[in-house]
Amino acid sequence: MALCDVDYQTLSQALHAYAGTSLDRRRAELLEARLEHIARSRGMNGVTPLIDHLRPPLDDSSSELVDGLVNCETSFFRDTPAFEALRAFVLPRVMERRAETRRLRILCAGCSTGQEVYSIAILLREHFPNFCASRVEITGVDISAKRIERAAAGVYTRREVERGVPSAVAARYFQPHDGQYRAVGTLRAMAQFRRANLAESWAGFVGYDIVLLRNLLIYFDASAKAAMLTRAHEALLGGGYLLLGAAETVSAARRIFDRAPWGGYPIYTPRKRAEGAGST
Ligand SMILES: C[S@@+](CC[C@H](N)C(=O)[O-])C[C@H]1O[C@@H](n2cnc3c(N)ncnc32)[C@H](O)[C@@H]1O
Repeated sequence: MALCDVDYQTLSQALHAYAGTSLDRRRAELLEARLEHIARSRGMNGVTPLIDHLRPPLDDSSSELVDGLVNCETSFFRDTPAFEALRAFVLPRVMERRAETRRLRILCAGCSTGQEVYSIAILLREHFPNFCASRVEITGVDISAKRIERAAAGVYTRREVERGVPSAVAARYFQPHDGQYRAVGTLRAMAQFRRANLAESWAGFVGYDIVLLRNLLIYFDASAKAAMLTRAHEALLGGGYLLLGAAETVSAARRIFDRAPWGGYPIYTPRKRAEGAGST
């Protein structure tokens, strides 16, 4: 069954109003299959009655539908150059600034099922073991309660682990768990997860050394992108770093960020705020 143009438009507008993101036409088949599944599980005959029944605007009670609509593609160490940039450029600089407090706070906005968060925890354990003894806090946030629940459990299939983690490294950081693999306690202790709609509010997300906002903005229009980037700017400490997806830029908010001098991956530093705003 193909989603008709009217249903597509209705859903796309509702999703944009709720989550800031648009439907990805390239994923139409997957989208239709998911919607069919939700409709069937509710005893409905097709997607149109489902859309009528849910009557957009969407809200937090429409989570099953939103989960079906929003792309959640992720993997461990997705985009190796991003992790190389963290290891070789971002983390050494941030740690130098934090040498006294030995406190490190990282935000993964749109963390999906948590692989990005645990990848950073592994990177820190492997390359900066001394710093891990101090207060490291990696917070993953996603609009999907289901994905956040999975992330917090830290349980992954063999395929998911093998997709990004070399086997010798996996042996150190994952334990067999009911036929799958669970991130070890030392990684989970560095991670925390929260469900939030970041298109609505970033309340409580402040004071970060590093913000990752990767592979989320591509589905946002220019004004939603600008709003999200402004909030990321507010969430960052002075001297902090913003990492976007490999193909993403801050063009929607270029006046508040500078590109960091690192060639291999898009990294930005927040320009100074007006006197009195934010902290260092
Ligand atoms: C394509 S995944 C990217 C995951 C990860 N950052 C990565 O690069 O591998 C995008 C994630 O952003 C989440 N997302 C989309 N809109 C959001 C919003 N308004 N607030 C919070 N999370 C959102 C989705 O649920 C999805 O899990």
